[in-house]
Amino acid sequence: MVQVVIIGGGFAGPVLALSLKKHKISSAIYEVRSKDWEHGGNIALAPNALRVMDSIGLYDEIRSSGFNYQELAFTSGNGHTLGKFLNGSIKEYHYPALRIHRTIVREALRKKVEEVGIPMYYEKKCTKVVGEDDNSATVEFADGEKVTADFVVGADGIHSHVRQFIHPCEPEFSGLMGIMAQVDASELRDIDHGLQLPAMLFGEKGSFAIMPSSFDGKEIGYFATIEQQDRGRDGWAKLETDKDEMAQLLADRFTYNGSTWPEMVRALCEKTPKDTLTSWPFYSVPHMEKFSSPKARVIVIGDSAHAIPPTGGQGAAMALEDASTLAYTLAHSYFPDFQRQYLPQLLEAWEKHRMPRLHQVVDFTTKNGNLRKSSPHYLEQAAKEWVLWTALKMSGETGGAQWMYSYSAEDVKKNIGETGLKTVTTWT
Ligand SMILES: Cc1cc2nc3c(=O)[nH]c(=O)nc-3n(C[C@H](O)[C@H](O)[C@H](O)COP(=O)(O)OP(=O)(O)OC[C@H]3O[C@@H](n4cnc5c(N)ncnc54)[C@H](O)[C@@H]3O)c2cc1C
Ligand SMILES: *[C@@H]1O[C@H](CO)[C@@H](O)[C@H](O)[C@H]1NC(C)=O
Ligand SMILES: *[C@@H]1O[C@H](CO)[C@@H](O)[C@H](O)[C@H]1NC(C)=O
Repeated sequence: MVQVVIIGGGFAGPVLALSLKKHKISSAIYEVRSKDWEHGGNIALAPNALRVMDSIGLYDEIRSSGFNYQELAFTSGNGHTLGKFLNGSIKEYHYPALRIHRTIVREALRKKVEEVGIPMYYEKKCTKVVGEDDNSATVEFADGEKVTADFVVGADGIHSHVRQFIHPCEPEFSGLMGIMAQVDASELRDIDHGLQLPAMLFGEKGSFAIMPSSFDGKEIGYFATIEQQDRGRDGWAKLETDKDEMAQLLADRFTYNGSTWPEMVRALCEKTPKDTLTSWPFYSVPHMEKFSSPKARVIVIGDSAHAIPPTGGQGAAMALEDASTLAYTLAHSYFPDFQRQYLPQLLEAWEKHRMPRLHQVVDFTTKNGNLRKSSPHYLEQAAKEWVLWTALKMSGETGGAQWMYSYSAEDVKKNIGETGLKTVTTWT
């Protein structure tokens, strides 16, 4: 029997398993999808995400498979530079930012998990947590199998089943969605765009980020953020297969007649091979007071605990930080002189460490999201540009984001302190 059962083999699950392994704790991962499942799209990994990847020995491997950059240029809708913001910095944070295909990261994690001998079972759908007692928790799968372990950790994403055991709730649509794809730079050769890439353009009809996504910078990815009415889970799944409609959504906002977006934006939209278009409705999980069950044997991390919109580029980073900090916490519970009755307090110390940070990141994300919305009036657009310009002027290139990018998961040890350790309770 393994010590920890992990539901979900996305980002948080494998990172937790690999971090636990470093602390000599055994685990197994159960993933609903098949082994060869792939989903398109790129992801940006900020320094705080890369610091976690480094801690499990995977940074060097992924670094050379994506686009490394530090500065992101903010521009107005017509491409005029308003300021620059450091998404990463070797000098400030020891890491640049990395824009990379999601599948490359997943594959690197999968291979590492296999290499170190952590079992990962595919096409295993967890249907519910059966229950917990003082020593263990049990989950059930769609095929009827039940598995018991010391801990059950839900890393099963935004529509989490494990979450229902702790805090039953449904994710809410945020009113924004992303459409993304990539185009080969050779297709764009004749366009004199004058933009410093990567760049984020804030226009009247939404925002448009242009970011290379390959190591050599020759693959140019983009990410359009637009407002949309909720379509429901089935409606969104349908849109994901309807590439024509996605292309039309882009055309209406970025390539209409009389558009003032730079030529580069039009070219990207028009040269996109339609089948590479990917859509992403931004959902968030309602605020949860706790990420662990009453007996602290069932825990949720990553998107299943707190999916946040992508407008701060921190979704994956938060999932990785959760995983790494939880590994320290669970390791503490296996210390020989740890007294089991203190387990709920131990998990509470972990939550107290994570909650304020998550709130701060959500706040940062929401502010960024509001800027990405369309401006109903040109005066509002002018105000938005002015806000961006002055904010960047005042705070400098780091944009006051050191707290976000400098974080180290090991800091959780300070919060945990000596919770539940016998040596301490006998002294006091
Ligand atoms: C298109 C797209 C682009 C993104 N871009 C960025 C970005 O640029 N920067 C950033 O920081 N974040 C980004 N994010 C967000 C980021 O991907 C998530 O925050 C991150 O993947 C969360 O990791 P996770 O492991 O918690 O969840 P997930 O990666 O969603 O993994 C959950 C896993 O659980 C599995 N699962 C679900 N239900 C069950 C079940 N019942 N039983 C077993 N397994 C189950 C799923 O198949 C999945 O593999 C993006 C997300 C999307 C969709
Ligand atoms: C846009 O402009 C082009 C050329 O000026 C014209 O051929 C086309 O019909 C116009 N499209 C719309 C939707 O107005
Ligand atoms: C870079 O910073 C901008 C603005 O703060 C943010 O919207 C974007 O998501 C960030 N990207 C990464 C990779 O952190």
